[in-house]
Amino acid sequence: MDSTRDQVVRIQADACWEKIMIITIDGPAGAGKSSVARGLADRLGFHFLDTGAMYRAVACAGIERNIDFQDSGALEQLARSLDIRWIEGRLLLDGRDVTDAIRSLEITGMTRHVADHPGVRAHLVQLQRATAVGRNVVTEGRDQGTVVFPDAQCKFYLTASPEERARRRQRDLEAQGDTRSFEEILAAQEERDTRDRTRSIAPLRQAADAIEVNTDGMSQDEVVDRLAEIVLELSRRYRP
Ligand code: DC
Repeated sequence: MDSTRDQVVRIQADACWEKIMIITIDGPAGAGKSSVARGLADRLGFHFLDTGAMYRAVACAGIERNIDFQDSGALEQLARSLDIRWIEGRLLLDGRDVTDAIRSLEITGMTRHVADHPGVRAHLVQLQRATAVGRNVVTEGRDQGTVVFPDAQCKFYLTASPEERARRRQRDLEAQGDTRSFEEILAAQEERDTRDRTRSIAPLRQAADAIEVNTDGMSQDEVVDRLAEIVLELSRRYRP
C-alpha cells in the first residue's frame, strides 16, 4: 500500500501526463462539499475553487453598494465589473479577502437572486473555466460536473441524509452564536434543496458519470481519504 505522499506524487505525475486534471464535486447544501474539496485540493496539491463563494461575493458587493437585486441589468453589470479571484484558498473581491464575511446569513439569503440570474451565471461560469485553464483543479458547486466542466476526468456527487446535513448546519450556526431549532434548519434546507433542484437554469443534479459518495457518519478526513483513493484508481486507468 502506497503512503499518502506516494499516492500524491503518483496522482500528480498522472495529472502531468493528462496535462490537467479537473475534479468536480457537486451536491446539495450541507453535504460537506466545501471543506472536503478544500481538503482534497490540499492533499493533491491542486488549485481549489469554491464556486458558491463566487455567487456569494456578487451578493456581498450588491448589498454593500445598495443594488436593487430585482434589477436584472444592474445585477449583471455589477457582476461583470467585479474582480473575483481565488488565491491560495482565499476569495478576493476587488482585492479584499471576503472568504469569511460571505458566510453571513444576510449574504446567504441574497445569493439565490444572484445564482438564479442567467447573465450573472454565464459570466461566473466563464470565470470558473478561465480559472481552471492550465491548472489541476478541485472545484465544487451545483453544476460543475454537469455544465461547467462536462469533460472533467473525475466527478463526484456528495450526498448525506437531510437530517445529517441539517445537524451539521446546526453545529456551524451554533458556532456563530445562532441558536435556531433543528426543525427550522431542516425546513429551510428542504426549501433550498427544492429550489436548487427545480430551477430552470443549471439545476442541481448528478452528472451521469459522477460517482456518488454518501458521507453519512463519515468524518471530513474519512471522506477526503475515500475521494483521494478513487482519484488514484481513476488516474491509474487513464495511464497510457
Ligand atoms: O454552496 P453555497 O451554499 O456556498 O452556495 C451559495 C449559493 O450559490 C446557493 O444558493 C447555491 C448557489 N450555487 C449555484 O447556483 N451554483 C454553483 N455552482 C454554486 C453555488
